[in-house]
Amino acid sequence: VPLAEAVGDLVLLDPLTEESLLQTLQERFRRSNIYTYIGNVVISVNPYRSLPIYTPETVQEYRNCNFFAVKPHIYAIADDAYRSLRDRDRDQCILITGESGAGKTEASKLVMSYVAAVCSKGEEVDKVKEQLLQSNPVLEAFGNAKTIRNDNSSRFGKYMDVEFDFKGEPLGGVISNYLLEKSRIVRHVKGERNFHIFYQLLAGGSAQLLQQLKLRQDCRHYGYLNRESSGLPGMDDAANFRAMQDAMKVIGFSPAEVTALLEVTAVVLKLGNVQLSSSYQASGMEASSIAEPQELQEICELIGLDPAVLERALCSRTVKARNEMVLTTLSVPQGYYGRDALAKNIYSRLFDWLVNRINTSIQVSPGKQRKVMGVLDIYGFEIFQDNGFEQFIINYCNEKLQQIFILMTLKEEQEEYVREGIQWTPVEFFDNSIICNLIENCGILAMLDEECLRPGVVNEDTFLTKLNQLFATHKHYESKETQNARRVMDATLPSQCFRIHHYAGKVTYNVTGFIEKNNDLLFRDLSQAMWASRHELLRSLFPEGDPQKVSLKLPPTAGFQFKASVATLMKNLYSKNPNYIRCIKPNETKTGMLFTPELVLAQIRYLGLMENVRVRRAGYAFRQLYDSFLQRYKMLSPRTWPHWTGSHREGTKVLLEDLAFPPEELAFGHTKIFIRSPRTLFDLERRRQERVAELATLIQKTFRGWRCRTQYQLMRKSQIIISAWFRGHMQKNRYKQMKRSALIIQAYARGWKVRRAYRRYFRSGASTRLANFIYQRLVQKFLVGLARNLPPLSVMDRTWPPAPYKFLADANQELRSIFYRWKCKKYREQLTPQRRALLQTKLHASELFKDKKALYSKSLQQPFQGEYLGLTQNPKYQKLHAVAKDKLVMADTVRKVNKANGKMVPRLLLLTTEHLVLADPKAAQPKMVLSLGDISSISVTRFSDGFLALHLKETSTGGAKGDFLLISDHLIELVTRLHKTLMDTTAQAPPLHISDQFSTRLQKGAMTITVVESAKAGTNIPVCKKKGSHKMEILVQ
Ligand SMILES: Nc1ncnc2c1ncn2[C@@H]1O[C@H](COP(=O)(O)OP(=O)(O)OP(=O)(O)O)[C@@H](O)[C@H]1O
Ligand SMILES: [Mg+2]
Repeated sequence: VPLAEAVGDLVLLDPLTEESLLQTLQERFRRSNIYTYIGNVVISVNPYRSLPIYTPETVQEYRNCNFFAVKPHIYAIADDAYRSLRDRDRDQCILITGESGAGKTEASKLVMSYVAAVCSKGEEVDKVKEQLLQSNPVLEAFGNAKTIRNDNSSRFGKYMDVEFDFKGEPLGGVISNYLLEKSRIVRHVKGERNFHIFYQLLAGGSAQLLQQLKLRQDCRHYGYLNRESSGLPGMDDAANFRAMQDAMKVIGFSPAEVTALLEVTAVVLKLGNVQLSSSYQASGMEASSIAEPQELQEICELIGLDPAVLERALCSRTVKARNEMVLTTLSVPQGYYGRDALAKNIYSRLFDWLVNRINTSIQVSPGKQRKVMGVLDIYGFEIFQDNGFEQFIINYCNEKLQQIFILMTLKEEQEEYVREGIQWTPVEFFDNSIICNLIENCGILAMLDEECLRPGVVNEDTFLTKLNQLFATHKHYESKETQNARRVMDATLPSQCFRIHHYAGKVTYNVTGFIEKNNDLLFRDLSQAMWASRHELLRSLFPEGDPQKVSLKLPPTAGFQFKASVATLMKNLYSKNPNYIRCIKPNETKTGMLFTPELVLAQIRYLGLMENVRVRRAGYAFRQLYDSFLQRYKMLSPRTWPHWTGSHREGTKVLLEDLAFPPEELAFGHTKIFIRSPRTLFDLERRRQERVAELATLIQKTFRGWRCRTQYQLMRKSQIIISAWFRGHMQKNRYKQMKRSALIIQAYARGWKVRRAYRRYFRSGASTRLANFIYQRLVQKFLVGLARNLPPLSVMDRTWPPAPYKFLADANQELRSIFYRWKCKKYREQLTPQRRALLQTKLHASELFKDKKALYSKSLQQPFQGEYLGLTQNPKYQKLHAVAKDKLVMADTVRKVNKANGKMVPRLLLLTTEHLVLADPKAAQPKMVLSLGDISSISVTRFSDGFLALHLKETSTGGAKGDFLLISDHLIELVTRLHKTLMDTTAQAPPLHISDQFSTRLQKGAMTITVVESAKAGTNIPVCKKKGSHKMEILVQ
């Protein structure tokens, strides 16, 4: 795509044709560049899709930008306007125009949010900003509605003055609203909706709120909502309702005010459901009455009014006839007319109240000096199938705005040339003041007022006739009659209509309803009824209802009021520096990124964009302040690059001289340079790009060279340091090596020298002999000393003197062990056989119990006596002695544990080499003789108690009664002897179990014995406790 096809500024378009202009817009739109300039006018094509170009980063990018140096954006114009206001003290207005759905409201919000974002911050300022921004959701809820063209169409005109102090900080603002389309309250066509607020309230109001307002949640219940539920895709009414409530809070509405506002809104909605039915009076006159009192009753409860009063006001009318008040009944259609008029009036007055209420919150206290930025977002030009009074008014307003656009762009251009002292020739352009005049000054509006105020029969026919007479030859006026006069046949123009050739197209208006809407009358009975209500807000909306203030003067007509407010607006706008945003609607279907060339072309035509470009180019296509121009292009001449020291104007001259452009291409103003054709500017721009590329290469080259050089130098320096260290290190090592070698050589040499010197004085071999002699003396002395000083001969004594010299250590150790073995041998030789046997038994005990039973360490000190009873001495034991004879091994008293109950009885125990005998101590008679071979195993505990269980072989004779449980004071000795005797006689000892749990055999069955550590037991006498028939616990310590 050639550059020209996507230029950001259409002034630079070359060649300039409708086609190329359209193509440029289309190409830019395709690349998502929805903004394009014509000089400082922004053209915005609605993308119908959210684009990522409104981020805080974008805001920063455009902040204090150079308007022409960055991509076209709405932020650029907002920034330009804001800076001009802040820095040059010029009041600004931002005029946003375009047809319905072209994006005007969105644009106005973008401008506002940009200004809010760039002006300074602070608590007070932030509050003001927030209030200004939050007025949008509130006004949109009440003043916007879905139409066929736009889901969020503004149904009122809005002009908002934002006021700033000298520092550019926002102080507050004033909002003016223009002509709300109130007919929508009572009627809207299929596919459209009533004002958003109704749907929002029903969808978002809590059950409690709806109950309080006596509303039902279902939209289909309400006549004014066409009894259809119309949610909109992509629009969350409930969420918007919450946003609107939050916004009201921010603006400063009190909860009571919000409630009152919603109550009045509910009343409007409910009025639509008041049904009338016809009845006939006694006189035969047709009359109407309320068909179903419920709704009326509820309305009256809401507003605090006697239902009878409202019913009378709705169904009858007081007429003054010859100074007499007469009450006449109304027919059903008249009644409905009155009802709808009331609903429309309440709502539009409520809307005015809302705007005023917002104004009181955001108004600036008087006396402060201020600068103003006005943002105008007015309903766009509308052409419908059937156009009525509203469209006429709206289009009139747009016509005025177009006029202001034409006049001011030209005026500004002209003034600029004069200011800069440059010659210029005026350009042809279409001036629409002829259409404005057709409507306002003695035009259609005036005729309409005249008709409305005229006494006698008034209807639209007479009005149309009058127009036809008056404008029979007007170029921009047409009707059936004027066509007939000109013998033109046109089926598209019905007889009840007139047609105006607006700047934006021909619009056919149907005169039906013009007079009624212009009069905008409300029966006095209704306003008086409203005034009589106890609802403060509603009452205040109808001041004329006060019977004290009855005035017979008719109120000004709607047309008159509108004309007046448009005139004020125009005056206001003329006094400010205008900035234009011209919105274009790219398709009829609200489709994202769809561009319909025919539709856009039509808008290009009626917006006069071509003329706009031509006017802009007639003189010079491009102009720029000398300093920014020089700054941008100074690299193109060696004389101005890199620095120019003279004035900017001189610098520019020198620069352009060097570039050798034809002189007619350039004009030098007082502060700006003017360039006639875009071609020259492109040329400049192309050269600049080339030059910038060259300069960039130069910078790159220099930088790369510098970087490589420093890198190289750094590496070289490092290399030198490394090699210096390395060499040093090597030399140091070599030196150390040499020094070590030198020392060794020296030592050898010295030794050799000394040996050679001393050899002269000593015989060889003398030293060895000396050494041997000394060695022998030392050994002799050691051995003699040892013999004189031997340690005691006791076997227990293991002392031995240490070796006096280290070389004797091994010999000394050897001597020590020899001495010890000799001492032991001596000891063993003098032992008696009994003593030897005793010691063997002790040794056996150690093998059995050492480290296994706690009692063992205590038994070490006790000698094993074997005979504790004194069998021989005591004659009482004669019988027993006879049993044992000379086979006795051990005799002692023990306790026998009764397995049935754990009780113990004393017994005498004799152990012979063959038997184990238990005897009654009193009778000293053997009670039980057990062959040792019957013992299968022995169990004892780990602790220091004397408990023992003798397990007997089942087959044995003694074992019939089961195992023995005994307690002995000499347990270690007893078990050891038993074990040893068995070993000696049978060469096979029974196993000894040392454990905490074992099983014993009863006469019948078995019993588990558990050893439990407990403080209740004696030190070596355990306590046996029977637990059930097959369990026994032995408590030990
Ligand atoms: N810059 C934008 N980016 C994305 N979408 C946009 C933009 N401008 C407009 N739109 C879309 O177009 C719709 C219509 O825009 P907007 O309500 O501003 O139109 P309008 O010109 O104010 O129409 P009306 O005259 O009916 O009030 C918006 O709801 C939005 O979906
Ligand atoms: Mg809008």
